[in-house]
Amino acid sequence: DIENNIRPLTLDEYIGQSTIKENLKIFIEAAKGRGEALDHVLLYGPPGLGKTTLAGVIANEMGVKLKVTAGPAIEKPGDIAAILNGLQPGDLLFIDEIHRMPRQVEEVLYSAMEDYHIDIVVGKGPTAKSIRLSLPPFTLVGATTRAGMLSSPLRDRFGIVQRLEYYSLEELMQIVERTARILGVGITTEGAREIGKCSRGTPRLANRLLKRVRDIVSIKYDSMITEETALASLKLLNIDTQGLDEIDRRILNTIWNQFKGGPVGLETLAATIGEERETLEDVYEPYLMQQGLLQRTPRGRMLTESAKNFLQIPEELR
Ligand code: ADE
Repeated sequence: DIENNIRPLTLDEYIGQSTIKENLKIFIEAAKGRGEALDHVLLYGPPGLGKTTLAGVIANEMGVKLKVTAGPAIEKPGDIAAILNGLQPGDLLFIDEIHRMPRQVEEVLYSAMEDYHIDIVVGKGPTAKSIRLSLPPFTLVGATTRAGMLSSPLRDRFGIVQRLEYYSLEELMQIVERTARILGVGITTEGAREIGKCSRGTPRLANRLLKRVRDIVSIKYDSMITEETALASLKLLNIDTQGLDEIDRRILNTIWNQFKGGPVGLETLAATIGEERETLEDVYEPYLMQQGLLQRTPRGRMLTESAKNFLQIPEELR
C-alpha cells in the first residue's frame, strides 16, 4: 500500500539522522563482510521519527527478512519463544515499544540475544524440566521512546544503541518533496516549506499533513501545492505555524493560567490536562523543550520567556 511505498528502502534514500546512517553503514558492511548477523540494535527517541522505517532499511540493506511485532503483543514467554523459533538465519526481528514487554518475556530474550538459545520449561512442579532450544543467528532491533525505560540487563545486550533526533526544516522539506513525488502531487519548494514548518520535526506528521493538504488543494483550489495554497489549507486544518498542536498549546496555556507559569509537577500537569503522564513526557515535552518553550527544573515544569512571548503575555503580568 501507499504507506509502504513512501517508506525509503535504502540508507541513501533515508533522509536525515546522518550520524545514525554513517554508523549503520559501517556496521552493516562489516557484518556482511564477515557473513554474520548484524549486532542487536536499540533505536530510541520520540514517536514518528522513523524507527520502524529504519528497521526496514536495515533489513533491506542486510538482505534479510523483516519480522515486525510490538512489546504489548507479546504477553507470555511462549509467545516470544514461538516468534524466535520461526526465525531463519540472519532474519531481523523488530520489536516496537520494547519497554512494554512483561518481565518473564524479557528474560527469555536475554539468552536469545546473547548466544542464540532459549530455555523452555516443560511440565510443572518437581518433574519440571528445562529444555535448551538453539536459535539461528538473528538481529533484534528494538524501539522505544526512552532508553531509560528499559531494564539495564536488556539495554546492555544491544551492541548498537542510537538515538533519533527531531528533523530540521530542510530535512522535512526533502521528505515532503520526496513523498509528493511518490504520490504524484505537484508541490513547490515554498509549499514544502510551509508543510515542513508545521510538522513538529516529525516525518510522520509531515507526510500526514501533506496528504490532507493535497486533498484540500485538489478539491478547493484545483492546483498544485504552493506557498499560498499550502498556507490556506493549513489554516483550514487549524494547524499552528510553529507546528504546535492542540495539546502542545493546552500544556503551555495550562501552565500559565493555572500554575502562574510554573513550576508545576508532571503528575499534576498531566491530571489537569487529562493526558497520560507517559505521553506528556515522551511525546509532548521533548518537542516543547527542543523549541525552547518548556523547561524541566527539579521543582517541576516551567514556561520559558519564549513561551510567554508565544502566548503573548503582557510584560506587566509575567
Ligand atoms: N519517511 C519517513 N521517514 C523518512 C526519512 N527519514 N527519510 C525519507 N522518508 C521518510
